[in-house]
Amino acid sequence: MDVIDIITAKRDGGELSPAQIDWVIGAYTKGDVAEEQMAALAMAILLRGMTRPEVARWTEAMLSSGERLDFTDLPRPTVDKHSTGGVGDKITLPLTPLVAACGGAVPQLSGRGLGHTGGTLDKLESIPGWRAALSPAEMRRCLEDVGAVVCAAGSGLAPADRKLYALRDVTGTVESIPLIAGSIMSKKLAEGTGALVLDVKVGSGAFMKDVDAARELARTMVDIGNDNGVRTSALLTAMDTPLGRQVGNALEVAEALEVLGGGGPSDVVELTVALAREMLAAAGLDGAKDPAAALSDGSAMDAWRSMITAQDGDPDAPLPVAAERTQILAPSTGVLTRLDAHAVGVAAWRLGAGRARKEDAVSFGAGIALHAKPGEQVRAGAPLFTLHADEPARFERAAELLATSFDIDGRHEPLPLVIEKVG
Ligand code: URA
Repeated sequence: MDVIDIITAKRDGGELSPAQIDWVIGAYTKGDVAEEQMAALAMAILLRGMTRPEVARWTEAMLSSGERLDFTDLPRPTVDKHSTGGVGDKITLPLTPLVAACGGAVPQLSGRGLGHTGGTLDKLESIPGWRAALSPAEMRRCLEDVGAVVCAAGSGLAPADRKLYALRDVTGTVESIPLIAGSIMSKKLAEGTGALVLDVKVGSGAFMKDVDAARELARTMVDIGNDNGVRTSALLTAMDTPLGRQVGNALEVAEALEVLGGGGPSDVVELTVALAREMLAAAGLDGAKDPAAALSDGSAMDAWRSMITAQDGDPDAPLPVAAERTQILAPSTGVLTRLDAHAVGVAAWRLGAGRARKEDAVSFGAGIALHAKPGEQVRAGAPLFTLHADEPARFERAAELLATSFDIDGRHEPLPLVIEKVG
């Protein structure tokens, strides 16, 4: 088979055959299709789309590029959640130990930052010693001992996604329903979860900007999950403004710890509890302990400490702090009516929280603290944002973006935090 025929067929709007899909994913995983050829195919898929049968086959081929884990013999039911990516979206951090504290086992394969959105692994790697690369045997041990594991898709699990995810991040090919569905669902099927709740983000800071596109992505993934024997449902949730008040790797870990300690911003708490309830129901654990109680009685925090320790992290170590900081002040007094998630995400990325090239390291301390959220009163001259970066040269571009990211006393209809359920 010839990769150029496959690229040009998709470029011209054709439907790829199952054999073409299997071949191109297999050859790319082995290194027989060059990165620039896969980048061209990813762009053709982004522009031309894929039919449902193509997406299902693409996902299966990505899954078959590695092994599929099986945890059906564990005493607890397995259940996972995956977000399509957002700004300030640290929900996995409190949610995973929370569900473990309520009786579920969460086998989560996660990703790194993608475009302007943060990645769970980058956040957790800001904890000194914490290790993302685990073998299947180590994953199993964490699930048996703690009931929760968050790790990278290792060389044996969905290796095609590991390569393609990093390539899409730096080639402008992230915002594609078939590519997002294939990426997420190949990882979720490979990790061996029995049930899955998808958090499909909608709004400026999400890859899906409107509810119709998000619903289509949710439906595509829910069908792939259920067709492959994983009980799958999705919540469409708001990403027009950042979640919580901290955006950036270590800053978000600190905020997740507030939630696990029984406090934290109300939107992060509300979404964490809503997703935990969905996950427990999907796992058949309806009568389990209520997640809100597990946050306030310390049991979710205990599960967090065990989860971090099991992956060689030190839950008591101080988190990294950026070398430099500066503030942006509110220009007038009034109610903050809009705070744009995309602008905040790109600004945090520019400050060093994300990558410009796939081999780049992220800055753990870089990011933005938000001093006000939409609906809150701000005072002229009071801080609106604190910017954190290792090099002060990064502040100017980020500040330019943030200057137009908000309105005071404007007109803006915020999305409800949980918009609808699919599946
Ligand atoms: N999360 C993933 O794992 N993959 C995507 O493509 C987007 C979000």
